[in-house]
Amino acid sequence: MTNVDFMLVAGARPNFVKLAPLHQALAAQQRPQLMIVHTGQHYDHSMSGSFFEDLGIPEPEVNLEVGPGSHGQQTAAIMVGFEPLLDRYAPRCVIVFGDVNSTIACALVAAKAGVAVAHVEAGLRSRDWTMPEEINRVLTDRLANRLYAPSRDACNNLYSEGISEERVKLVGNIMVDTLCAQLPKIDQKGLLRDHNVEAGRYVLVTLHRPSNVDQPETLRELWTALQQTGRREPVLFPAHPRTQARVREFDLPLPTGGFRVLQPLQYHSFLGLMANARVVLTDSGGVQEETTALGVPCVTARLNTERPITVTEGTNRLAPPETESIIEALAQADGRRGRIPELWDGHTAERIAIDLCRGTSDP
Ligand code: UD1
Repeated sequence: MTNVDFMLVAGARPNFVKLAPLHQALAAQQRPQLMIVHTGQHYDHSMSGSFFEDLGIPEPEVNLEVGPGSHGQQTAAIMVGFEPLLDRYAPRCVIVFGDVNSTIACALVAAKAGVAVAHVEAGLRSRDWTMPEEINRVLTDRLANRLYAPSRDACNNLYSEGISEERVKLVGNIMVDTLCAQLPKIDQKGLLRDHNVEAGRYVLVTLHRPSNVDQPETLRELWTALQQTGRREPVLFPAHPRTQARVREFDLPLPTGGFRVLQPLQYHSFLGLMANARVVLTDSGGVQEETTALGVPCVTARLNTERPITVTEGTNRLAPPETESIIEALAQADGRRGRIPELWDGHTAERIAIDLCRGTSDP
């Protein structure tokens, strides 16, 4: 395959959820040549393959299989692996998603090769430069020719950085497309039964950010909050491999009472459990958005968020990663359903596909 129109690049779990609807929407346009490149940043079946299965994403044409490493090693390995693909497949446009190392690595290589870059989920800013994702976001947006923003605040961030308005398009949140398409396929009752929980009567947890799990003091604060909450109600914690490794390394006490640590879940299982939780505790960007779309209360264990709309319009609230503040925020989470932000309507991928196929992404 050569002279590809759109090369879609994904590497980590949150990328797959965004790639799935866009691949489908592009395929529905007038037969563009599409190809998927998996960088291999995530490689466990539970972090990668199971998402391709649940979301019906075709097998990637190329898997660079870079695996783990320091930020420098991982980003460099992706760049070295990705560069020859531009010669081999001559894509008209490289499409990158989100803010992970694969996003910046491939955007940088494509931009230097003079290939147009489209960035899906442009313009989000936490203004926290200690966060690797913030660096990835700012740089990817600077490199991209076409910037697809999920919300108006994201557009405004881009304008205030001097990015011209013609390059930016407000399209809504593409994760909501996946959520709307997949939710009806889930056997929610069966899922609750399998996990031995009742609708609206448990806490669902995801925590994996370096700022929360890499320091023993911080992880211990969070862990204690989960142990204590588990005395009152079930707490389900499907833990990222990085978090599991830190829990072992820091020798944290075994979960007790209603507190249960699980392996990372497939997309369908996690979405079904999220839709029925009383409250979700997270530090993930995507989960803040998905809970807003579902109208499920969310507590984000961070001091800032690049997704402020989930707080101003949605169901999210921030809480510092300290035992007391987390316990209190979880206990106080109410049934506030929030408001669904503008264009989070399940049709974001279509809007992007139409725009891309108009050819506005030429460099
Ligand atoms: C990455 C993203 C983060 C995103 C997260 C979602 C960056 C900078 N960070 O963080 O924004 O929220 O993905 O999950 O790109 N590991 C495995 N198996 C896997 C994947 C990872 O064991 O399939 C372990 C490895 O030990 C690895 C560690 O997890 O070193 C961290 O993985 P990495 O891809 O470097 O970053 P994440 O923390 O997953």
